Amino acid sequence: MTRASWRTRIGFILAAVGSAVGLGNVWRFPWLTAENGGAAFLVLYLAVIVLVGVPGLLGELVIGRRARTSTVGAFEALAGRNWRALGAVPLLASVVVLSFYTVVGGWIVRYLVGSATGAYFDAPAQYFAAIDHGLGAVGFHVLFLAVTAAVVYAGVDRGIELATTVMVPAIVVVLVGLAAWAATLPGAGAGYDFYLALDVAYLRENFLDVLAAAAGQALFTLSVGAGVMVTYASYLDEDRSLAADGTIIAGLNTGIGLLAGLSIFPVLFALDVAPGSGGPGALFISLAGSFASLPYGRVIGIAFFAVIALAALSSAISLLEVPVAFLVDEYGVSRGRSTALVGSGFLATGTVAALSPSAFALLADTIANLALTAGLVGFLLFDGWVLGRDALEEYELGAGRLARLAGTPWLYAVAFVLPVFLTFTFLSAVTTTAGVPVEGTTLAALAAAAVIACIVVLRRPSSVL
Ligand code: PHE
Repeated sequence: MTRASWRTRIGFILAAVGSAVGLGNVWRFPWLTAENGGAAFLVLYLAVIVLVGVPGLLGELVIGRRARTSTVGAFEALAGRNWRALGAVPLLASVVVLSFYTVVGGWIVRYLVGSATGAYFDAPAQYFAAIDHGLGAVGFHVLFLAVTAAVVYAGVDRGIELATTVMVPAIVVVLVGLAAWAATLPGAGAGYDFYLALDVAYLRENFLDVLAAAAGQALFTLSVGAGVMVTYASYLDEDRSLAADGTIIAGLNTGIGLLAGLSIFPVLFALDVAPGSGGPGALFISLAGSFASLPYGRVIGIAFFAVIALAALSSAISLLEVPVAFLVDEYGVSRGRSTALVGSGFLATGTVAALSPSAFALLADTIANLALTAGLVGFLLFDGWVLGRDALEEYELGAGRLARLAGTPWLYAVAFVLPVFLTFTFLSAVTTTAGVPVEGTTLAALAAAAVIACIVVLRRPSSVL
């Protein structure tokens, strides 16, 4: 059987953008921005995207294209059987993220319907509290998962590529419309101020917390650490510049995220809704609630939730593809069977998240970030210390002059600087969650020591570093 592949380069790029653009951009990003001081968060977030996100994304693309097989097998194909275990972390990360993702996807479908009927207009907070967990949530999670599985079942080029090629442009068009409409609201200016004006004092006081939140969000939004980008790059059969593709993917994702902010904050401020209220529910309570008092509220609501539904769907597709491709590549299972098998697993895990708010919060707030971070550290150390020169060679295939110049610095960054930084944010998240705050410098020293220990174990003499 010949291995699946993308039909066109644009198809690959749009599929990857579809994966990146998701709930992270429209649900998590505005909520984290609101909780972390508006523009202060935005600045760090943009810095982390450029300095950590893009090189990290390239680290995954290089592994996938070189191995031409999915997450777990890629380690074996490139370095031998003993390395397979390293693939377990990203595989697990994809399972963790999709397990709560389809639940939120289900909420969105419900709000899409609710926008047409006006179901949530009168009492948005009560409506959200009534539907966020329980049997109804299970039903909508199942519906959302079924649509996701149908696309994955249809295949890489005829399912994923086709679907995302339609979905991503549709998202952009509707979002531009919404942002333009939001600009006409009276009081929109206050929203832009909050979103775009930098409060340096806030940033100085809360630097580490804001940095950790920004780092977690940067990985989440770029879909790195879960093997999605390895898997998608494994379907590439032409050697084009990965650096160019990665930059386009990150650029489009960030642009769409900013656009979402430009449509959300003016609405909140025009109606005097505190952006920080409601946490994860901010989108569903503050924003959805505001539609009721706006002219054409129903139409706006439908447009809004349709965009989010498409964005969430294209990300869920990529997450499901990781374990599905794993079974196909490693065990020779047919795509249909693999989708059915993996899909029923998610039926179960998603049901747990849909029924239990505490399971949901644990997955969405804590474990997802940790698993993505750990997954990415594994990929990067592998690039730097096991592949070494080979990683650079793969990076350079098809790369232009500028990208080539960045090659060696990139390799040093993924081999050492990024792993230390990511381990630092990982440890900081663990200690904060556990309620035992540790000094920043101590954490940094611990992170460096941990990474050096990993390098000693992993390093292959053949790697140049
Ligand atoms: N990037 C997606 C979003 O922003 C989430 C995601 C994370 C998808 C990890 C795949 C892998 O919603």
